[in-house]
Amino acid sequence: VVESETKCEINKKQPHAVCIPFPAQGHINPMIELAKLLHSKGFRITFVNTEYNHRRLLKSRGPGSLDGFPGFRFQSIPDGLPPPVAAEDGGGSAGDSTQDIPSLCDSTAKNFLAPFLALLKKLNSPASCVVCDAIMCFAIDAAREIGVPGYCFRTTCAASFFANRNLPGLIQKGILPLKDSACLTNGYLESRLDWIPPLKNVRLRDLATFIRTTDLNDVMLNFIISQAQEVSKASGIIFNTFDDLENEVLADLSLICPPIYTFGPVHFLINQHPQNKSLNSLGGSLWKEDQECLEWLYSRARNSVVYVNFGSITVLTPQQLVEFAWGLADSKKDFLWAIRPDAVTGDCKVNLPSEFFEETEQRGLIVKWCPQEQVLNHPAIGAFLTHCGWNSMLESIASGVPMICWPFFADQQINCRFACVEWGVGLEIDSNVNRVEVAKAVTELIDGEKGKQLKTNAIKWKNKAAEATSSVNGSSYLNLDKLVAHMLSKQ
Ligand code: UDX
Repeated sequence: VVESETKCEINKKQPHAVCIPFPAQGHINPMIELAKLLHSKGFRITFVNTEYNHRRLLKSRGPGSLDGFPGFRFQSIPDGLPPPVAAEDGGGSAGDSTQDIPSLCDSTAKNFLAPFLALLKKLNSPASCVVCDAIMCFAIDAAREIGVPGYCFRTTCAASFFANRNLPGLIQKGILPLKDSACLTNGYLESRLDWIPPLKNVRLRDLATFIRTTDLNDVMLNFIISQAQEVSKASGIIFNTFDDLENEVLADLSLICPPIYTFGPVHFLINQHPQNKSLNSLGGSLWKEDQECLEWLYSRARNSVVYVNFGSITVLTPQQLVEFAWGLADSKKDFLWAIRPDAVTGDCKVNLPSEFFEETEQRGLIVKWCPQEQVLNHPAIGAFLTHCGWNSMLESIASGVPMICWPFFADQQINCRFACVEWGVGLEIDSNVNRVEVAKAVTELIDGEKGKQLKTNAIKWKNKAAEATSSVNGSSYLNLDKLVAHMLSKQ
């Protein structure tokens, strides 16, 4: 266990939340925001990363950058995975098993309980509660063992969780697993779950991609089913969403789950809770952020730039990369594209033809990793071409930016479905990406009627997100207080 606590006086009466995210960027970011919110409510925080991610955070932020936050300290535990082949640019290189979600899920379920429990038992100031990612329910068992309540934080949308809760029913009905691989192409995945009212517009192909198996014993299928059931052991479930956005799903969920606390978008809510100033700079980026792209955006007209980013895990084939590139070039629009060092299969070097760079020199900027929230809030951004990770979607909604949706895997399909069909903020493009469709979608979103309509809806949702988080009567604002009251009542 790596210690990074600066010695300071411990107030024994102060509530102490131990927060443990799933070890991937899309889970660390919202958990840090949640931890900062609890800190703003008077909690002492211990934030537990894997040793590998702890080192990556230090590398992206600079030595010593995780020390010296009063009442907020970092600890780490091993992830049980082989070391990555090579780690450049702060980690996340090709061949890096810590970027491989099935390996990570398997390892968190098998290897994390013992070191996490050992850490809980040796804390100088005992934990008063544990807040774990909702796909790491072993931490609820650990909380029980030391006699404190455990809360789950679900960092995906409520609809994705609700859909996973319904998977055992689909297995009972014989709908899943798939009968044979022909089901992937013969239209079987188009059937709707119209007998489950909150999921009436959801098709089988919108469910977590891990259902696309013929094997009832498939590791990932069983992982998502068991984790969705095990949250029932928690003292409460926190969702990074807001009531207006998912009211129908949330109403049904509240009938079958422990108390639910929706207080998203967390990155919005944090702005309403003045924190200790020293925490302002605390973020969870595992790659170094390119700040210069913000300057570049200032040289562009309002609503003129398409921002392209596929998150922290998506890996493109070289062919997909080239189709996106020529789609952007052919659209003739300005673009800002973040391509991680490990974003393309085979070779971590980005291989785009020189003609593409010549063609787009005046209007395109490619970076490795950027400060996404700030980018999305920039007035120059007119549209977001996204893989539909839940954080990206919430950040886009909260910035009033419409999306071109290219869902890749896991919960991203259902996020895309809700964005396009329920919320009217997204335009889906084919998973088999081609340059003509990309160019058309970009032009449509920046210049077309469809773009105007989606932008109007995005602004409407942005205002609702602001209402939920900023007024003392807002649902997310109130729910944070309810959660804190619940936590304190169990001390
Ligand atoms: C993963 C899953 O893929 C996603 O479906 C799930 O909902 C959460 O976990 P990821 O693929 O990384 O996340 O996507 P996303 O949820 O969008 O999270 C990425 C985070 O990294 C966002 O908070 C985004 O702001 C941040 N980011 C991304 C940056 O700060 N800079 C970048 O250049 C790219």
